[in-house]
This record gives sequence, structure tokens and C-alpha cells, in this order.
Amino acid sequence: MALRRIFQKTSITSGRALCAAVLRLKHTLPDLPYDYNALEPHISAEIMELHYSKHHATYVNNLNMAEEKLDAAKATNDASAIIALAPALKFNGGGHINHSIFWETLAPATGQCASGELLAAIERDFGSLDNMKAKLSGSSVAVQGSGWGWLGYNKEENRLQIAACANQDPLQATTGLIPLFGIDVWEHAYYLQYKNVRPDYVKAIYNVVNWDKVAERFTKAQQ
Ligand SMILES: *[C@@H]1O[C@H](CO)[C@@H](O)[C@H](O)[C@H]1NC(C)=O
Ligand SMILES: [Fe+2]
Repeated sequence: MALRRIFQKTSITSGRALCAAVLRLKHTLPDLPYDYNALEPHISAEIMELHYSKHHATYVNNLNMAEEKLDAAKATNDASAIIALAPALKFNGGGHINHSIFWETLAPATGQCASGELLAAIERDFGSLDNMKAKLSGSSVAVQGSGWGWLGYNKEENRLQIAACANQDPLQATTGLIPLFGIDVWEHAYYLQYKNVRPDYVKAIYNVVNWDKVAERFTKAQQ
């Protein structure tokens, strides 16, 4: 997440340097790397359009708004206003990060499978790819209410792990796991198509995993 600031120095004729406006780069909705209908029949175009253009876009807008308020609170040194913004930053920042990972680790069904170093690590840490999927599915299905199931990388112990989060805490900050692949089990991710049958949605999503991308994220996480 880019929390970069650009400090612009503007020289004025007298030669005095003036430290001018602090510009914050706004977060933007990342491009969806495929069409809304590209994951059908596993995830419907209707879900994809709503999920991306409404839900994810709202996280992005609200994150930008919360950051603007944060700038204002900082400018006036208002500690209680700064603290009060924490939940909005966490919720919308978390939503933006999670969904950005989600879109890029999905892809039209090609029958591709985990391979290479990623597959070797999965087999080492879970016995087999099927065992890993079963464990990730089980954790995702078991999330009470809204949340995510994750395949993550524990860098300290150099192993892959499954985690499920029902609250709003970001995966990395609370579990130390670097997120590799996440399953969004908020109802907005499946209800229009799967109704209350979350297990069917979780089962179907394995048809549209972009394993190459997950492997790429694994390689980066190890660096
Ligand atoms: C983002 O993922 C974290 C970790 O799984 C989760 O706790 C949180 O609820 C998610 N946030 C949103 C808005 O989906
Ligand atoms: Fe979502």
C-alpha cells in the first residue's frame, strides 16, 4: 500500500525555499486482469462485477477518505481524532489489500496446477496438494460470519500455513504470515450464485486459481 508522500520544494524568486503542499498519492482500484465473465461458471459475471466495481471500489474510496481525515487530524495534532480513524483505516485498507491479492490470484479455468517450488513446499508442509486444499477449504468454510481463509508463508519458520480470520485484523500484522492466496468468504463473494452453500463456492474456486501467480508471490515472500 503506497503511503508515499511527495514533498515539493518550490523556489521563489527571493531564493528562499518554500516547502509547499504535501501531496498524497490516492489509492486506486487495480485493473481486473480478465473480464467479469472470465471465471464462469465457477464465479458468475454478476458477482464479479459487483464485487470488483462496488465492494472493492468502496474500500478504495473509503481508504482515501480516511487518509484525508488522517492528514487533517495530524495537521492539528488531534490525537483522539487520529486514534478514532484506526478502525476505518484497518477495515478499508485491509479490504483493499485483500481484494487486490484476490483478483490477481484468480484466473480463467485452464486446469493449471501448483508446480515447482510451490508444489514442493505444499507437499512438504501439508503432505499433498489435496491435503492443503482440504485444510484451506475447511478453515474457510468454518469462518463464522464474514472473513477470509488464507494460505500464507511463515518466513521465520520457513513453512506454509493456513489461517482463517473472522475479524478485521490484517493477516500479516496479526499472524506474521505473508498472504499467498486468500479465499473471500464474505457473503458478497458467493451468495448471488451459491446462496447459503458456502462449501460449494469454496470447492469451485480451486478451478480458477492462478497458481503461477501464487508461486510468484511465494518466491517474492521468500526474498
Ligand atoms: C482482510 O483479510 C483479513 C485477514 O484475513 C481479514 O481479517 C479481514 O476481515 C479482511 N478485510 C476485509 C475488509 O475483507
Ligand atoms: Fe470481498
